[in-house]
Amino acid sequence: MLNVRTIEEMRAAVNAARTHGATIGFVPTMGFLHDGHLSLIDEARAAGATFIVVSIFVNPLQFAPNEDFERYPRDEARDTELLEGRNVDLLFLPPVAAMYPAGASTIVKAGDVAAPLEGERRPGHFDGVATIVLKLFNIVQPDIAAFGRKDAQQCAVIARMVRDLDLPLTLLLGETVRESDGLAKSSRNSYLSADERKRAPALHRALRAGEEALRHGIEDVAAVEQLMRKMIAETDGVDVDYLALVDPETFLAPLDRRREVILAGAVRVGKTRLIDNIVVPRGTPPGID
Ligand code: PAJ
Repeated sequence: MLNVRTIEEMRAAVNAARTHGATIGFVPTMGFLHDGHLSLIDEARAAGATFIVVSIFVNPLQFAPNEDFERYPRDEARDTELLEGRNVDLLFLPPVAAMYPAGASTIVKAGDVAAPLEGERRPGHFDGVATIVLKLFNIVQPDIAAFGRKDAQQCAVIARMVRDLDLPLTLLLGETVRESDGLAKSSRNSYLSADERKRAPALHRALRAGEEALRHGIEDVAAVEQLMRKMIAETDGVDVDYLALVDPETFLAPLDRRREVILAGAVRVGKTRLIDNIVVPRGTPPGID
């Protein structure tokens, strides 16, 4: 695996691969890798990528001043080993000064889909995500780029950007990889104490309860949201930030019952903020999965 830190080296390596006929697959990450990240590498390869690029960059632009940029977990040696084990071709590890040199001030304003839920709680977050992802796309120029459905609203923001700005690439959205008790894998799970870790699956349990209710024909959005809140309340020390039923394209309350819906949630367990979601097809008859 080639390890590069400058934009120039990055462009040169990808150009060389392309000259040899490679299909470039790209998985952007903030590192502290887990099976969720690694599954996206496999997905990109399964979709036909023959040269896999992974980036690790903890993007200051997507963190608010009160958020965890400084303490975000980092372990370059371990990440490098995991990526080598997955036969990744190229790892891009740019320093902050390379991505945001002095005077950098142009940003992408994420579309409407960035406004509710995460966007409402984390102002500017999705503009920061869209900006870094567009920059990375321009540097890597991938044929295929893979993102995880764990961050469902992020997927929607990026899909909208790709469409609105005519970016010439195919997006792949990978399923959420979970721990055996349902907790979605996340670099931020490393913040949890042993006790908090035991409480954390409450979020997924609540979303599953909401899913069950929908599958059994309960149509009342408020009732489903209420049910999920009740489930969370059964576990001490887990505070709801939001629990909502939304349309997968707008991330607003679902209007069209014939389409699938997303059950999305964010909770705080101690100081750690966790998010998760489940996509539920609509019109599923009771008892049929
Ligand atoms: P990060 O949180 O490191 O996630 C990198 C990619 O892995 C994202 O596409 C995310 O959705 C996916 N991912 C995370 N946990 C997952 C899980 N349990 N199962 C499947 N996929 C999972 O998301 C970011 O970084 C950043 O916002 C980034 C897109 C890199 C821009 O800075």
